Amino acid sequence: MGTQNSTSTASQSFFITQNPDAYSAEDHAVWSILYDRRMQALQATGSRVFLEGAERIGLRPDRVPDLAEVNRRLGARTGWTAVAVSGFLPAREFFASLSNRRFPTTIRVRPRQQLDYLPEPDIFHDVFGHVPLHAHRVFADFLQRFGRAAGAATTAEQVEAMARLFWFTVEFGLMRSRTCGKDGICAYGSGLLSSYGELFHSVESAEVERRPLRLEDVVHQPFRIDRYQPLLFVVESFEQLYEMVGELENWVRAGKLDEVAGGEPGVSEDDLRSFLTPARVA
Ligand SMILES: [Fe+2]
Repeated sequence: MGTQNSTSTASQSFFITQNPDAYSAEDHAVWSILYDRRMQALQATGSRVFLEGAERIGLRPDRVPDLAEVNRRLGARTGWTAVAVSGFLPAREFFASLSNRRFPTTIRVRPRQQLDYLPEPDIFHDVFGHVPLHAHRVFADFLQRFGRAAGAATTAEQVEAMARLFWFTVEFGLMRSRTCGKDGICAYGSGLLSSYGELFHSVESAEVERRPLRLEDVVHQPFRIDRYQPLLFVVESFEQLYEMVGELENWVRAGKLDEVAGGEPGVSEDDLRSFLTPARVA
């Protein structure tokens, strides 16, 4: 993708420009395989919000998304945009973007040899997995509010709590809804939506504990990024998420997050980056 990206300014070196004409036939073919596979599985296990969102932002089975086109549709609905980045962003930059309704997305397409496993994010994880949710009014507000709340964090413990809530909702969240398939539970987290192996496991496996999402539980709950999740949290609605982030911000300001339980993840800059874009993005 070397010819595809151009840096915008020196001070914003991680923001780049997508040239949709630079994608090769192979890039489109890989996108197509991933899209078909995932969409088939997601009819039964993905949330309606995701499926409707994918349609609303104009994702196509045969083409790598053109972000300008996605943003025309998305912006008209919720004011969100997907902005191309060259790779991982520092956590602060990432959350600051969210607070401005800008979602950083990588634009590279994974190689065919790594269809099912990729150690870093690509456009399939970032745009297919994340962006359709941004067309939902309440989720869109929740994510912006999350960005603002994270901006208030000043300690490693607070950042750890933020990372845990982000991980168990935006990346690996389950929801309960009448419109969900089996047992009324389906996935809305991007790490599940874009994952070849973990989606069914998360929704159907008896080995997974699915717990109602409560802020006091999730901020103390360690997680590992290198295995299928044995514990996931279920929300009843996106309104619940929106309210919860407001509460999280109150807890930060009240010093209530200064003693979150230890355990994984530890908060290093590298870890932080990986929380925001998990390694298992197949
Ligand atoms: Fe992600």
